[in-house]
Amino acid sequence: MKITVIGAGNVGATCANVIAEKELANQVVLIDIKEGLSEGKSLDMWQTAPINLYDSRIVGYTNDYSHTAGSDVVVITSGLPRKPGMSRDDLIATNAGIVKSVTENVIKYSPDAKIIVVSNPLDVMTYVAYLTAKVDSRKVFGMAGILDTARYRAFLAEALNVSPKDIQAMLLGGHGDTMVPLPRYTTVSGIPVTELIDADKLEAIIERTKKGGGELVNLMGTSAWYAPGAAAAQMVEAIVRDQKRIFPCCALLNGEYGLHNIYLGVPVKLGKDGIEEIIELKLNEDEMKLVKDSAAAVKEVMDVYDNMVKSAAV
Ligand code: NAI
Ligand code: 2OP
Repeated sequence: MKITVIGAGNVGATCANVIAEKELANQVVLIDIKEGLSEGKSLDMWQTAPINLYDSRIVGYTNDYSHTAGSDVVVITSGLPRKPGMSRDDLIATNAGIVKSVTENVIKYSPDAKIIVVSNPLDVMTYVAYLTAKVDSRKVFGMAGILDTARYRAFLAEALNVSPKDIQAMLLGGHGDTMVPLPRYTTVSGIPVTELIDADKLEAIIERTKKGGGELVNLMGTSAWYAPGAAAAQMVEAIVRDQKRIFPCCALLNGEYGLHNIYLGVPVKLGKDGIEEIIELKLNEDEMKLVKDSAAAVKEVMDVYDNMVKSAAV
């Protein structure tokens, strides 16, 4: 098993480290455009192997994709992160160019890889990778929902003073302030969360979750990496171990939820073939309206990208 992570920055390096520590592959390849960065970080991580007791070999290369050949899974984290005052959408032009060129190289050497996109704006960058890769959409998907539900679950665990292990949740929509956490699909060991927490407290947690990325950008001056890296690695694990796990992931919709030709966060089954099923929840009217509003926000940014392509700006 061979896994490549593109981008040896905060998220990419964290993701590669989790993948190696969990021994998800014999070989983990880290690629970055910045001279020496992936070589240095992979060497540093490899030197933790005798301490943390794993034998996944991590190697790094500067922009040389020949070493990624035959990867089973590729995680794309290359691109600029958010800075204070920026929305994820502000990153579109720069990151679209990066994701497009990276995907061309990825697919040249690993035409059968499952591609997990992390770069922002997430839903649109996943669309860019899909258009560039020209492969089945079940093999190109994005990481956001695992991170967003992890934030929601962590906030709930704190408020209820229970283990985060016992909190299950689902969340739909784009990776932005319009995301849709679903209280009706949130439980604590099977107990509906609404039986355990006041409505106003739950609402405050939902609002904090929606702005969870921005909260960290404001604290650190750049966006988060521990939870995003671990979330992407969890998707890799589901694929390489063929776990058939149900996660919220950014997937191409063609009729599901009444939406067409849009990448959006929905529950999927993740296994060795990538997205093996998109699960359609029986949403009520209010929930469906929130999902449609979120889809409209994502579509707006997809249109910005499509217009850039038409005017040859990317
Ligand atoms: P970072 O700046 O620490 O790392 C990005 C890396 O990409 C840098 O090392 C840079 O040299 C590299 N890079 C740039 N152009 C490249 C190219 N053409 N080929 C190869 N490498 C290239 O940024 P960080 O914090 O790791 O974030 C990465 C991306 O992930 C950002 O777009 C960020 O917004 C996004 N993100 C997405 C999340 C999600 O939930 N989907 C969560 C957190 C971050
Ligand atoms: C996050 O949610 C900014 O997408 C990044 O942390």
